[in-house]
Amino acid sequence: MISEVHLQESDPEVFAAVDRERQRQNNGLELIASENFVSSAVLEAMGNVMTNKYAEGLPGHRYYGGCEFVDEAERLAIDRACKLFNCLWANVQPHSGAQANMALYYTLLQPGDTFMGMDLAHGGHLTHGSPVNFSGRTYRVVSYGVKKETGFIDFDALAKTARGVRPKLIMTGSSAYPRAWELAKFRELADEVGAYLVCDMAHFAGLVAGKVHPDVVPFCHVVSTTTHKTLRGPRGGMLVSSEKGGELLLPGMPKPKTITEALDSWVFPGVQGGPLMHVIAAKAVAFGEALRPDFRTYVEQVVKNAKVFAHELVSLGYDLVSGGTDTHLILMDLSSKGWTGKAAEKALEKAGITVNKNMVPFDPQKPMVTSGIRIGTPAITTRGMKEPEMKKIAQLVDRTLKNMNDDSVLAAVKAEVAELVKSFPLYPKSLVLRGAS
Ligand SMILES: Cc1ncc(COP(=O)(O)O)c(C=O)c1O
Repeated sequence: MISEVHLQESDPEVFAAVDRERQRQNNGLELIASENFVSSAVLEAMGNVMTNKYAEGLPGHRYYGGCEFVDEAERLAIDRACKLFNCLWANVQPHSGAQANMALYYTLLQPGDTFMGMDLAHGGHLTHGSPVNFSGRTYRVVSYGVKKETGFIDFDALAKTARGVRPKLIMTGSSAYPRAWELAKFRELADEVGAYLVCDMAHFAGLVAGKVHPDVVPFCHVVSTTTHKTLRGPRGGMLVSSEKGGELLLPGMPKPKTITEALDSWVFPGVQGGPLMHVIAAKAVAFGEALRPDFRTYVEQVVKNAKVFAHELVSLGYDLVSGGTDTHLILMDLSSKGWTGKAAEKALEKAGITVNKNMVPFDPQKPMVTSGIRIGTPAITTRGMKEPEMKKIAQLVDRTLKNMNDDSVLAAVKAEVAELVKSFPLYPKSLVLRGAS
């Protein structure tokens, strides 16, 4: 018999840590571009008995018995993902964005093959070929980046390189590039050089779903994503494709497989074991939410907020990479002020504002120091904040940065942050911690 004692009584130490994290989220300003606040329905779907179930395989084809109900949840997640991104196939099992990318590379490349991805310092992700990541250790990586003068992708240089090295795959998408990805010309180039075109839309998947970012799925052989960030679901990964699937003969495989069949088998058993069925249930819930009209209103506001935030920062005299944003994120370049991202992150944290230090293109600083900070609007928009709050927050960021070493100013900003967030309540204790009083 399972005891009904709630966490508060059964493990007060973990309870206290979770509750302090709830309060931190409630009381601060969350500007990390890759974070968001999930709904109570998503939280509930993640914390339930589906965590108990082993379900290796795919719905209807499992290696374990008793899968009929987790099959229902996974089928809902797949169907909703296909509707959301207008695709023909989805695999909702990757535990994370990094694992989705691993399955994707393993499907389309052989160790030692050449692929192109965006340089980490120019906005790319570790899994796009960084030497400290498996992607950079397994394959020959040729990076591309942005133009120094504009901060926009240097497509001419990228195309010239691609014609020279003839990569087997071109990875698009990014973690810190503030501009929209227009993939039609990437596909033309990929076809010309005989490469697969893939996109990691982890950061802007919610914007694609809400149609405030140009579509990427029709142009790519495969698209990977996280299900958190702008998509506002549980932490996790996913692969989608609208390819009908050409024949793809993989060495060591007894018979030819379509790309999507090969992707399925590279997720499991290729790089993962049993899927996290409670997280898959929560993915289904989040995709259901993203299919509703109010999600589109939400992502429209995310982008409007980022543009107003960026405009205010520029008016206050800050340099932004590419001069602004088309998306949910802003990359501030603090080098002309003589400040580092590390110092800025720390000061903002003291003032109740959470951001992350971030490399900027051609950054002279080391990755643990950096010259930039990345700012995002998904989480504060979920709280209901709009244009007037964006201006106010940009001014608070400015005051903090100009007084980085003055603890009394940082305390005063923190008090203003606390006052501001009171009007935008987030998680009550009873919702996050069942049984909590
Ligand atoms: C573009 C991109 N891809 C992949 C990932 C990795 O996702 P995860 O942290 O779920 O492994 C991230 C995470 O920040 C990302 O920004």
